[in-house]
Amino acid sequence: MQRMDPKALDLRPFDVLDTRWALLVAGRQRPNPMTVSWGGMGTVWNLPVATAFVRPSRFTFELIEKDRCFTLNVLPEEYRDALRLCGAKSGRDIDKWKETGLAHEPSVEVPVPRVVQAELVLECRVAAFTDIRPEGFLTDEPTAFYSSGDYHRVYFGEVLAAWRA
Ligand SMILES: Cc1cc2nc3c(=O)[nH]c(=O)nc-3n(C[C@H](O)[C@H](O)[C@H](O)COP(=O)(O)O)c2cc1C
Repeated sequence: MQRMDPKALDLRPFDVLDTRWALLVAGRQRPNPMTVSWGGMGTVWNLPVATAFVRPSRFTFELIEKDRCFTLNVLPEEYRDALRLCGAKSGRDIDKWKETGLAHEPSVEVPVPRVVQAELVLECRVAAFTDIRPEGFLTDEPTAFYSSGDYHRVYFGEVLAAWRA
């Protein structure tokens, strides 16, 4: 992997997460990969930031709350089935590494690992979070996603390192 200035990344913003999906890895003691497709990248507080939207019901939520860091990992298309599994099963119930054959290795700037098979990795330290609140909804679209409550917490991850295969 080659380290890059995150601000020099040449990405298509709607493709990199929403189309391709990514694995968010959290959990220092017991790392766990969760599939994500919402969020984005850009400058906040003059920092390079990746945002992740995580519902409190996810095992991943507990893990981020504890360690306050995560890695975002984009994988080649051949791993789509693995991403499907990581987006359907909870790390509370299974070991997703064992189930998918994916592997992790230590990151450089954060204490949670990255995915060996990834072709793009962002190592993020949570600089701030904010919670989605229905009081802020101005159109009908967001409401449809919260029939059971479980409003996302939005994590602002300062990108401490970016890597490209
Ligand atoms: C394509 C896809 C995208 C997803 N994006 C998100 C997301 O951005 N935020 C979220 O909280 N859950 C998202 N999910 C659902 C979680 O990945 C899923 O509930 C997962 O089983 C939670 O794993 P965990 O309990 O091990 O954290 C997505 C699922 C899929 C299939």
